[in-house]
Amino acid sequence: MSAPAPCPCARAERVGSGDVPADTCAIIVAGGSGERFGDPRGKQFVELCGLPLMSWSIMAFDRAPSVARIVVVCAPERSSQVEKDVLSQLTLAKPVVLAPSGVTRQDSVRSGLGVVPRELEFVAVHDAARPLVETEQIEACVAAVRADASLAGAILAMRSIDTLKLVEGTTIIATPDRSFYWAAQTPQVFRTARLAAAHRAAVRDEYQGTDDASLVERLGGRVRVVESTRDNIKVTMPEDLAIAEATLGQRLLT
Ligand code: C5P
Repeated sequence: MSAPAPCPCARAERVGSGDVPADTCAIIVAGGSGERFGDPRGKQFVELCGLPLMSWSIMAFDRAPSVARIVVVCAPERSSQVEKDVLSQLTLAKPVVLAPSGVTRQDSVRSGLGVVPRELEFVAVHDAARPLVETEQIEACVAAVRADASLAGAILAMRSIDTLKLVEGTTIIATPDRSFYWAAQTPQVFRTARLAAAHRAAVRDEYQGTDDASLVERLGGRVRVVESTRDNIKVTMPEDLAIAEATLGQRLLT
């Protein structure tokens, strides 16, 4: 995959309703093998309401006034498929560049960060496997970080609805107060410099986190949650696709 040329459109500019600055680069990670999903096409490409699954999150970010540019991270051998089956089928307002995925999700995000123009103050990392993200949720996360200089980031998350158990083997060790627990989702929005520093530190310390916020938190960065809903599911198993199809189908009707 050739290195993308610097894009003049990536300069932060004032656009959109409410004069929101376009100062955010989206990184949509779509480089997973989707083994648990079990479709040889890869779950990013399975059809959801008539389009490849990853198209829906790309469109949600394209509509977000804060987003100036979109980086899609995918396996190098899938890049022509992304161009042909996904990008060329959509009418997008924002420039999109591809970056090669890595072995882990964290490697993929780091690869995407490598092509984010540093003049874009914020970066919004999103799993392509969450096609139901809404533009308002993206904007809410960006607005939260933009509004509070003490924040390194803001992530979409959902209050725990189940009672949680700390289990060792099969034995319950504790039942923590669930009001303190939230399930992290994406997008996860950060000041670009803070996330880049967190990824550099993770490489240096050989740290593997399960999300980007954890990398920033371990450096002492303050990250807040923005409340989300169950709709923003991560399509992981084949049965998740039916749920996504029902929710999205309903939205498209209204
Ligand atoms: O595997 P999982 O569903 O947790 O992956 C979350 C997101 O990270 C997916 O959108 C997947 O495509 C992406 N990913 C990636 N590179 C990897 C592994 C996962 O971009 N090496």
